[in-house]
Amino acid sequence: MKKRILVTGGTGFIGSHTSVELIESGYDVVIVDNLSNSKADVIYGIEKITGIRPAFEQVDCTDLPALENVLRKYQPIEGIIHFAASKAVGESVKEPLKYYRNNTVSTINLLELMPQFGIKGFIFSSSCTVYGQPNTENLPVRETSPRQDAESPYGNTKKIDEDIITDFCKSGAPIQAILLRYFNPIGAHPTAIIGELPNGVPANLIPYLTQTAIGIRECLSVFGDDYNTPDGSCIRDYIYIVDLAKAHVAAMERILNGKSDKQVDIFNIGTGTGVSVLELIHTFEKCTGVKLNYKIVGRRAGDIEQVWGNVDKANKILGWHATHTLEDALSSAWKWQQKLRADGVM
Ligand code: UD1
Repeated sequence: MKKRILVTGGTGFIGSHTSVELIESGYDVVIVDNLSNSKADVIYGIEKITGIRPAFEQVDCTDLPALENVLRKYQPIEGIIHFAASKAVGESVKEPLKYYRNNTVSTINLLELMPQFGIKGFIFSSSCTVYGQPNTENLPVRETSPRQDAESPYGNTKKIDEDIITDFCKSGAPIQAILLRYFNPIGAHPTAIIGELPNGVPANLIPYLTQTAIGIRECLSVFGDDYNTPDGSCIRDYIYIVDLAKAHVAAMERILNGKSDKQVDIFNIGTGTGVSVLELIHTFEKCTGVKLNYKIVGRRAGDIEQVWGNVDKANKILGWHATHTLEDALSSAWKWQQKLRADGVM
């Protein structure tokens, strides 16, 4: 029998790509999503790519009785990959309680229900935001690098969730957890059937960039060229979404195959290479042949100057490597934007 995995937030950007990789690795996938920032159509996209339609329940993970019904209905579930969360940094500053409620209550509910339903593995969607701005001598950051005060309520919920999971595991709960700290996920599935679909004006770089390239936005603003970096623009570790999705499968397999010797383990998931905003723009222009309209503007409040990850631990212990180049990732993002235009979505 196929092992069944519950994917919360499975119609979102990272969740949908991970669901595809899980199905293609032979898992039975059940998706739970409240559709607050995604569309139910994504289920058909997953089916189109894999030939299998995952089960779908429109449920909010903060709703404990509804979540309990889902876990009962789909017994036995072997593991949970928890993506469902609010993720807009700016919004979290304006509506902190929404973020603290959504992002912590859903995690608590899932953890609370796991022992009752004999669910062993929990993979959590964490972020490099927990490192804040590491000292330059600590770059690239390792899993053992200190966490720092969060820049936003969103970032703080990631730290708090990490602590909730860790404390629950320490209490002797019959579960194992892996915290995946992602760097900046970008791109879309190579089929261009699923991808990133932000609501309204995008806050993140790649959707803003591809929307500018296709003419929806007039000009991409580069937030600052006076940072202490080689070209003055901020540096990030951009990880291709399909590579990131595969890391979740590797992490879940480690727990389900009894290979994890820790109750809670942490892995950075990135490429190990830092790329500046200007380098990224020039790479996009080169690999797509599209000239981008951009201008340098002032710094964005709360931005980290530079961060990229040391991913040796994931390479060695999970046996996982990012195999796609920045060009692959940017070309896929462009193909996805063109597909949205061809389909009349935007
Ligand atoms: C932020 C969060 C991260 C979160 C992610 C998802 C922090 C420190 N990081 O990542 O935890 O998971 O959002 O929402 O809070 N940029 C421009 N012009 C634009 C947009 C972005 O120049 O129009 C630049 C930014 O200054 C930054 C880089 O592009 O240097 C990437 O920005 P973005 O895609 O928003 O991600 P982060 O801020 O790195």
